Amino acid sequence: MTRQFPAGFLWGAAASAFQTEGAAAIDGRGPTVWDDFTRAPGKIRNGDTADVACDFYHRYPEDIALMKGLGLGAFRLSTAWSRILPSGRGTVNPLGLDFYDRVIDLMLHEGIEPWICLHHWDMPSPIEADGGWRNRDCARWFADYAAIVGRHFGDRVKRFVPINEPNVIPWVAYNVGRHAPGRQSREDTVKAIHHINLAHGLTIQAVRAEAPGAEAGNIVSLGPVHPAVDDEAHRAVLPLAECIWRRVMVDPLWLGTYPEPLATEIEPHIAEGDMAVIRQPLDFFGLNHYNRVYVAPTDTTMWGLIERVPPPGYPLTDVNWRIDPSALVEQIEDVGSRYGHPPIYITEGGCAFPDALRPDRSVHDPDRIAYFADYFTALAGAIENGADVRGYFAWSLMDNFEWNSGFTKRFGLVYTDYPTLQRIPKSSYYWMRGVIAKNAVIP
Ligand code: BG6
Repeated sequence: MTRQFPAGFLWGAAASAFQTEGAAAIDGRGPTVWDDFTRAPGKIRNGDTADVACDFYHRYPEDIALMKGLGLGAFRLSTAWSRILPSGRGTVNPLGLDFYDRVIDLMLHEGIEPWICLHHWDMPSPIEADGGWRNRDCARWFADYAAIVGRHFGDRVKRFVPINEPNVIPWVAYNVGRHAPGRQSREDTVKAIHHINLAHGLTIQAVRAEAPGAEAGNIVSLGPVHPAVDDEAHRAVLPLAECIWRRVMVDPLWLGTYPEPLATEIEPHIAEGDMAVIRQPLDFFGLNHYNRVYVAPTDTTMWGLIERVPPPGYPLTDVNWRIDPSALVEQIEDVGSRYGHPPIYITEGGCAFPDALRPDRSVHDPDRIAYFADYFTALAGAIENGADVRGYFAWSLMDNFEWNSGFTKRFGLVYTDYPTLQRIPKSSYYWMRGVIAKNAVIP
């Protein structure tokens, strides 16, 4: 059955600076924690670095042509803090601003709305050396950078978001240590939680002041949390898992409070007035959704909690994420009911599959088409049932540097042929073009 999306539904794609730009030491860009982390042995599959990545820095005209060919109404990119402020603070690098001017102006010329995310995990190394998110001052430094971006681009950019998936940073970067800066400290995790939330609030204030005509929202990665095994010990860790993953970086923004069981532990880090700063009026809720999250108790981590692959029997993507469109619908309902039914944009969704280049240099990815067809069908159904979802951004336009997986995992609608970096639209790209043109999915 054809499922039609509402008129004006926004079709987009998303990508981030570190994962696509490359040009790591060009035109004054400063080093970031991820540049450092990729150089540490054993952190990234095959020892891949993002020094060149997709070379979006030089190839953006071709990539914007691909966006246009797809019919995208919007593209979500991130600005690299260290391209604009090489040390994170102090002197602005005009060449950094010039680069984003070129990208944004060309996107606008092609009728594609730029959405700017101010931080997609690539913290400048000098800021990390000064404590990074462990240091309360970091929130202010980040808001100062946001003010520069808001002031410079606010005449053209109408959607700003402070931080991509702030819930990933404390848990994955400060607790598990799998992401840069690779810490494993409960105290640092708790500090990072509050300081990132504070940075969000200060940044929204800065963007409102500098770009008064723009909308601002948050972007968080959410999915229902489940016990990996349905027994008492697993169910016992659910409240903590739920709090860490789904609530602690969202409740303060939308409700002005920290949830238990973490609230008491965060309390000593809260200064007077912080909660009011964090809870700014927001224009939209950016929901990244990939999967249901499965957790288990363990005595080998400081929180006694660990994420597991889903129980056997479920279809999975190439990164072991369960394929289940009903999880997206459940998550949308949870956001709506808990946070007062804000306008929602799905700011990331997508799947990795082991795509291969055929001898005729085409790429056929029927699994990705089936994935999007099922998720879009479910999403259209949710909207028909009253969910206020206004757009969907596919992750990602093209295969790129997938953090710990390096270049081994492919999420793109466009195949990136490493190391030639030739772009080859996959069959899902042509299928998606039809969806966007009709504003409907025909399974
Ligand atoms: C999202 C991130 O959580 O997941 C993206 O915002 C990332 O930056 C995507 O690329 C896929 O995750 P991973 O860990 O497989 O690279």
